[in-house]
Amino acid sequence: MAEKILLTGGAGYIGSHTYVALIEAGYEVTILDNFQNANRSVVHRLERLTGKPVSFAEADIRDATTLASLFSEHQFDAVVHFAALKAVSESVERPLDYFDVNISGLINLLRVMDAAGCRTIVFSSSATVYGVPDETPTPETAEFRAMNPYGQTKISGEQILNQLTAADERWNVGILRYFNPAGAHASALIGEDPRDIPNNLMPYIAKVAAGELSELQVFGDDYDTPDGTGVRDYIHVDDLAKGHVLSLAALLGEGQGHLVNLGTGEGHSVLEMVAAYKRASNRDVPYRITERRAGDVPVYVARADKAEEILGFQAEHSLDEMCASSWHWITGEHSSEDPGPENEE
Ligand code: NAD
Ligand code: UD1
Repeated sequence: MAEKILLTGGAGYIGSHTYVALIEAGYEVTILDNFQNANRSVVHRLERLTGKPVSFAEADIRDATTLASLFSEHQFDAVVHFAALKAVSESVERPLDYFDVNISGLINLLRVMDAAGCRTIVFSSSATVYGVPDETPTPETAEFRAMNPYGQTKISGEQILNQLTAADERWNVGILRYFNPAGAHASALIGEDPRDIPNNLMPYIAKVAAGELSELQVFGDDYDTPDGTGVRDYIHVDDLAKGHVLSLAALLGEGQGHLVNLGTGEGHSVLEMVAAYKRASNRDVPYRITERRAGDVPVYVARADKAEEILGFQAEHSLDEMCASSWHWITGEHSSEDPGPENEE
């Protein structure tokens, strides 16, 4: 019988792509999301994409009663926990909201899981837990450095899960530290859908290429990098989704807990990203060099060998594929049939 998975935050960017990968891998998946940062039409698009009705609950991860009734209804074998707030600058303005959703929400979920006897979880962590790392490519052994309240919530989440596993060996935990997710599903039915002006590079470039924003501000060209602009390890969101399937298989199969980076091991600068996006879109991407962004890290690149060794994970998609799929999503037809990212209430 198919194993049952609860996907919190499954209507979001990484969650929706992971939903598709899990369904393709034969899991029975239920999405829980409160649409705080997602569009309701994602559910219809996932139905079109998979050809199956989506099992779905609109709820908040802090709502223990609803969570408990979902667990008794479905008897989940495992949880993949994406639901969180993720905007760094907003976390500096509203740290308590971030602690509430990302830390209290996690604890609430773990309590309900414990009571239901479901103790297998994949946790979305981030390269941000490394702060400004001493070493690049950065290995999983690098120390924790909180740069802002958002980063603190990911460190705290990992620590809570580590202590829980140490205290009770029935818990089975996969911690995945994502580097910079980019791109979209090849169908152009799902993709990154920022509600406001994007903070992150790829969706910002996409809107400049599409003419919705006039120019990209490149935050600093005086870093100690080959062209002076910030370097990141961009990873296709479909590769990340595959990482979750492998993580679940390891947890549900041999019960093998793990902590791994999910990246490609390769870095690209902001100007390389602009050039790649221009190639993919055949559009101009005007940009202007400005001051460094406060709190920015010069280089984030993953040591990617542990995920390969433990999970058999290897990123397959190139930077050009990330840009092409992002452009396809941005210019796609989804908005003509469903309320798209810009025109839904
Ligand atoms: P996202 O905002 O697209 O997805 C998160 C989803 O969680 C959204 O659909 C949102 O509506 C939902 N959500 C938020 N608060 C909720 C709550 N209280 N109850 C129920 N649902 C709630 O973000 P994403 O980029 O898909 O990120 C998913 C996870 O990966 C997050 O935990 C994020 O911190 C982590 N992460 C993201 C990145 C990135 O660059 N996107 C990098 C590293 C880690
Ligand atoms: C940011 C967050 C990080 C979070 C990650 C994923 C900050 C300081 N860090 O990471 O904690 O985990 O998003 O959500 O916000 N850039 C520009 N112009 C832009 C946007 C970005 O030049 O308009 C540059 C940045 O300076 C950086 C690179 O592009 O060098 C990537 O930026 P971004 O996509 O925001 O990701 P991170 O900085 O890695």
